[in-house]
Amino acid sequence: MRARAAVRGDAAAIAAIYNQGIEDRVATFETRPRSPEDIRAWFDGAHPVVVVEQGNRIIAFASTSTYRPRECYAGIAEFSVYVAREGRGRGAGRAAMEALIREAERAGIWKLVSRVFPENTASLRLLRSVGFREVGTYEKHARLDGVWRDVVIVERLIPANLTP
Ligand SMILES: CC(C)(COP(=O)(O)OP(=O)(O)OC[C@H]1O[C@@H](n2cnc3c(N)ncnc32)[C@H](O)[C@@H]1OP(=O)(O)O)[C@@H](O)C(=O)NCCC(=O)NCCS
Repeated sequence: MRARAAVRGDAAAIAAIYNQGIEDRVATFETRPRSPEDIRAWFDGAHPVVVVEQGNRIIAFASTSTYRPRECYAGIAEFSVYVAREGRGRGAGRAAMEALIREAERAGIWKLVSRVFPENTASLRLLRSVGFREVGTYEKHARLDGVWRDVVIVERLIPANLTP
């Protein structure tokens, strides 16, 4: 298993993995499948995206995106992590997150944030084990398939970018 920075050419593989996560309804409020073209738009030069390969197959990705447009928040990024169904539970999620944290540090990001369904124990455990803190819970944050769902807010500081 090897993690590396992603390139635009990885977009189709990333879309396939993201679409499995969307279909599984465990990870996101999104319900619209993404195309490779949607994924290519993630490569904006400011936000790291990483993939994990096994042999020559991409089995996981982690990505960052804009948290808020305000300039004061430029060093905060939202993140996502998804592993292909057949590759889950074998360390790929951890490899993706460790690589993403490294790339985020290089990009000058000082904090990663996201929201996780409280039922997503795999994700909460992974994130705890790579240094995330659970900030609290947003109640009834949005509806997924018509059902109001809570989300746990998570954050991880990147100390190297918090110098005075
Ligand atoms: C959540 C997800 C990214 C975790 O990645 P993974 O490769 O399956 O997890 P890893 O094998 O790297 O395991 C990382 C940690 O999570 C734990 N874990 C993994 N799967 C688990 C499960 N089903 N239940 C409980 N804990 C689990 C591992 O024991 C490990 O914990 P440790 O570091 O304390 O030993 C992956 O399962 C996935 O893609 N799920 C669907 C999409 C998703 O939920 N994305 C996250 C959105 S917030």
